[in-house]
Amino acid sequence: MPEYAAQTFGLTKVFTDFLLRPRVVAVEDLSLQVESGEVFGLLGPNGSGKTTTIKMLLGFLRPTRGRAELLGRPAGDVHARRSLGFMPEESSFYPFLTAREILHFYGRLFGMPRRERRKKVEGLLEMTGLKDAADRRISEYSKGMQRRVGLAQALINDPKFIIMDEPTSGLDPMGRVDVKNLILDLKDRGVSVMLCSHLLGEVESVCTRVAILHRGRLVREGTVRELLERRDMIQVLVAESGETDRSRIAEALADIPVRVASLEFVSDSLEEVFMRIVEKEEQEEE
Ligand SMILES: Nc1ncnc2c1ncn2[C@@H]1O[C@H](COP(=O)(O)OP(=O)(O)OP(=O)(O)O)[C@@H](O)[C@H]1O
Ligand SMILES: [Mg+2]
Repeated sequence: MPEYAAQTFGLTKVFTDFLLRPRVVAVEDLSLQVESGEVFGLLGPNGSGKTTTIKMLLGFLRPTRGRAELLGRPAGDVHARRSLGFMPEESSFYPFLTAREILHFYGRLFGMPRRERRKKVEGLLEMTGLKDAADRRISEYSKGMQRRVGLAQALINDPKFIIMDEPTSGLDPMGRVDVKNLILDLKDRGVSVMLCSHLLGEVESVCTRVAILHRGRLVREGTVRELLERRDMIQVLVAESGETDRSRIAEALADIPVRVASLEFVSDSLEEVFMRIVEKEEQEEE
């Protein structure tokens, strides 16, 4: 297993118009690492370059400058692709096929023998809660059900590394919890995960590290803990003891007759950190 599931080196994508005039710098000089076995979150407002980064990692888009590596091989390499799962922002499947047929189709693409394929497909239908609808056509599926097919499809080849673009969009709360648990489960099995999401609460609870993009540039990177910790405030957690009202605690703390359960730096939510970073960047651009 290579040390990094993915790495980018000065990755840049400039979209040009039909006269090849630069129009949008979608990703600018991006260098980041996704370590093997970690769940890495790529965050950023709409249009900040997340999907473009993923497309370059997968070799779907050619970078204007810089390069990307996946599982130790250059982006787009066929060998790396065999060990890779990808759940796109929007999956487009043949609408006249059923979920079961689609999963068999992808299994065949990976050259899986029939018995193994059948077992895998049934397992994935079960896992994604699609078993009862497995023989209905995709065109009849709700958006959330289609996302589930996209997820099952991304897992068909038992990937070592899975990239998910907004995995929980369109899913109901139950579906979101399922996806979250699934990601944690993949992590336990040593699968590396990279996910893009706007749902920061979810990112916070599953990711080991996150990077925040803003207008194509990396503005922050670190462990979730590093990003959330504030060094300017300390919170004292006092164990519940029946009559603990705040003024009493304040008085009491002076000569410490209370049992201090924990004394730690206050944590922000990832939502607050994200908003602060994005707002600061916006102000600096003005
Ligand atoms: N094929 C394309 N041609 C021209 N511009 C593009 C193309 N694809 C993306 N862009 C532009 O590149 C920028 C980054 O887009 P991208 O889709 O990577 O953002 P994103 O972070 O995934 O956003 P979202 O959260 O909305 O999915 C945007 O300004 C977008 O308009
Ligand atoms: Mg996107």
